[in-house]
Amino acid sequence: MPTRIADAQRRSLSDPESFWAEAATAIRWTRAPKRVLDDSRAPFYRWFPDGELNTCYNALDLHVDTGRAEQLALIYDSPVTGTLERFTFRQLRDQVARFAGALAAQGVVKGDRVILYMPMIPEAVVAMLACARLGAVHSVVFGGFAAPELATRIDDAQPKLIVCASCGIEATRVIAYKPLLDEAITLAAHKPKACIVKQRSQLTAAMVAGRDLDWDACVASATPAACVPVAATDPLYILYTSGTTGQPKGVVRDNGGHAVALKWSMQNVYGVQPGEVFWAASDVGWVVGHSYIVYGPLLNGNTTILFEGKPVGTPNAGTFWRVIADHRVCTLFTAPTAFRAIKKEDPEGKLIRDFDLRSLRALFLAGERSDPATLVWAETQLGVPVVDHWWQTETGWAIVANCLGIESLPVKHGSPTVAVPGWDVRVLDEGGHEVPRGTTGALVCKLPLPPGSLLTLWNADQRYFDAYLKEFPGYYKTADAGYIDDAGYVYVMARTDDIINVAGHRLSTGAMEEVLASHPDVAECAVIGVADELKGEVPLGLLVLRDGAARTPEQVVQDVVHRVRDVIGPVAAFKLATVVKRLPKTRSGKILRGTMKKIADSQPYKQPATIDDPAVLGEIDASLRDVGYAKR
Ligand code: COA
Ligand code: AMP
Repeated sequence: MPTRIADAQRRSLSDPESFWAEAATAIRWTRAPKRVLDDSRAPFYRWFPDGELNTCYNALDLHVDTGRAEQLALIYDSPVTGTLERFTFRQLRDQVARFAGALAAQGVVKGDRVILYMPMIPEAVVAMLACARLGAVHSVVFGGFAAPELATRIDDAQPKLIVCASCGIEATRVIAYKPLLDEAITLAAHKPKACIVKQRSQLTAAMVAGRDLDWDACVASATPAACVPVAATDPLYILYTSGTTGQPKGVVRDNGGHAVALKWSMQNVYGVQPGEVFWAASDVGWVVGHSYIVYGPLLNGNTTILFEGKPVGTPNAGTFWRVIADHRVCTLFTAPTAFRAIKKEDPEGKLIRDFDLRSLRALFLAGERSDPATLVWAETQLGVPVVDHWWQTETGWAIVANCLGIESLPVKHGSPTVAVPGWDVRVLDEGGHEVPRGTTGALVCKLPLPPGSLLTLWNADQRYFDAYLKEFPGYYKTADAGYIDDAGYVYVMARTDDIINVAGHRLSTGAMEEVLASHPDVAECAVIGVADELKGEVPLGLLVLRDGAARTPEQVVQDVVHRVRDVIGPVAAFKLATVVKRLPKTRSGKILRGTMKKIADSQPYKQPATIDDPAVLGEIDASLRDVGYAKR
C-alpha cells in the first residue's frame, strides 16, 4: 500500500493518543484537554475527558472572530418553494444566538433534551446549533416518520421542549407536520413543557393554547445567548436509528470527540479546505445531515448547502447539476440511490452538459452499497473521482474510505477502499477468530473506537453493550458482513441483522413485522428486503392469515400497507405484501427470511439442512412470482 495513508493508519493505531491530541489542536477549547483517552471504564471509552468547549462556538463564533464573518456559512436552496437564502457566518451566528435566547427563555439549560421535527429549512440548522450553544442535547427526528415513531422518541429522550415546523414539502405535496406532532404528544407519556412552531407560508398550523409558541414571536423577543462551555464528554445530540425491534436506538454523540473527528475528516477524508463549498444532499434527520450538512462543514469553515428537494422531479434530473454550478460546490456527498434516480431519468447525462461543473472535484457516496454500474456511470458523466465510503449512524463518520485529503488510492469498484486512520477494521468468524484475507465474516472494529463515534445508547448502557460489544469482546460489531482483500481493501456485502436499506434510509424489518403482527387477522408474518432497481431494497411482507379471518386477503394486504405508513411512516416505503399459506421455518421454528429473500431476488440458494418442510419453499416461490418477484 502506498505510504501516506498507510503511515497515517499506523500512527493512529499504534499511538492513538498522540494522533488525536494533534488533531484536537484544530479545535478551540475553553479548557484544553490534558488527557486524551479515558479507558478506566473500558469498554466504555471517553475522549478528551478533562477538556471543555462549545461546539456552536467552534462552528460559528470562531469563524466570525477569525476573519470569516462575511463568508457564506449556509446556502438554503429550495426548488420546492422557489427560495434561495444566503447566511454569512455572522448572520447565522446572530440567528443562532437569538434562537438560543428564545430556548433559554423557555427554561432550556445545559443537559436538557430538545426534539426537533423539522423539514429542510434554515430554522432546522439554527435550532440544532442553538441547542449546542446552550449545551442542550438535540434529537432530530426525520420528517418522514409517523406520529407513533415520534412518540417513542419523545418518551425515550424526555425533551423539555419540541421545535417543529408547520409543514414539509415533498416534491409538489405539502405535508402537514404539526398534526403529527400533536398526535405524537397525545400518544406519548412524557409531555414537553412547550413547542416552538415555525409557521411556513405554505401552511399555517393550528396552535395549542398554553403549549405552542410561534417561532418568529419567540425570536423577536429573545435576547441573544452566549455559548455555554460543556465537558468534551457531555452529549451534543441523540440520534435515533433503527434497531432490530420497534424500539429505536438512541445513539449518543459527545461534544469534544465529535468536533475533533469531524473537523479532521473534512480535510483528511474529503480533502476540503476552509472557505470551500461543501454539499451533502441528505436530510438533517439522518446522520449524514448532522455530520456533513451541519457540523463538519461549519467546524471546518466551509459554506454548506441546505437543499430542500429531491434529485429528480424538483424540477428535473438536472437539479443537482444546477446547484453545483450556481453555488460552485467543490464536493458533493449523497446516497447511490440519488444517482440511480438521476440515471434512470437522464441515462445519457444530457442535462449535465447544460451546466458548468468545473468547481466539482469529487463525489462521495454512502448510506448503502454502491453498485458498480451506478458508480461507473457517475465517474463517466462527471469526470471526477467517485468515492464510495462506508459508515453508520453509530460511527458518525467514515470507517472505510478513499481519504482524498491524505492520498488518493486506486479505486476498486465494489469496495469503499481502506480503513480510515483511527479505525482498526477486522473480519471475524462466528467464534470471534480473525479470518484469512479474502474470507467473508463479521466486520468489526477493534476498541477503542476513534473520537466522534457513539458513546453509548441514551439511558441504555446495557443495551449498548449487548448490541455492539458483547458478541466479540474487545471489538465493536458493525452488524455488516464483508471481507478484506490482500491489499487491505474492505468489501461491505450485507447486514447480519434484519436492517434493510431503502433509498439510503435504514429501516428495521423487525419493526415492520411488529406492525403487521398487530393486525387481528394476521397469524404470522415476515418482512424481507427485496432488490429494487431505484431504492436498492424495498420491504415486502409475507402474511399468514388466521383461520376464519374477518377480512379478505386483499383487504388485509391493504390494511397492513396503511398501518405501516401510519405507525412507522411513509419513509418505510412499505407498499408490497402478499398472503401465503405458511412460512418456511427451521425445525426449531426460526423463519427462513434469508432464503425467502434469495428466492424473491432470483438468486441461487441452498435448501437449509435444518428446514422443517422443504415443500414450503415452492409455495413461497409461487406466491412471490404472483407479486412480480422470483422471476428467473
Ligand atoms: N417528510 C415527509 N415525508 C417524507 C419525507 C419527509 N422528510 N421524506 C420522504 N418522505 C416520504 C416521501 O414523500 C415518500 O412518500 P410516498 O410513499 O407518499 O411517495 C416516502 O416518504 C418515501 O420517500 P423516499 O424514500 O424519499 O422516496 P421517493 O420515491 O420520494 O424518492 C429518491 C426516491 C431516490 C429520489 C429519494 O429517496 C432520494 O432522494 N434519496 C436520496 C438518498 C438520501 O437522501 N439518503 C439519506 C442518507 S445519505
Ligand atoms: P445508517 O446508520 O443509516 O448510516 O446506515 C448504516 C448502514 O448502511 C451500514 O451498516 C451499512 O449496512 C450500510 N452502508 C452505509 N454505507 C455503505 C457503503 N458505502 N457500502 C455498503 N453499505 C453501506
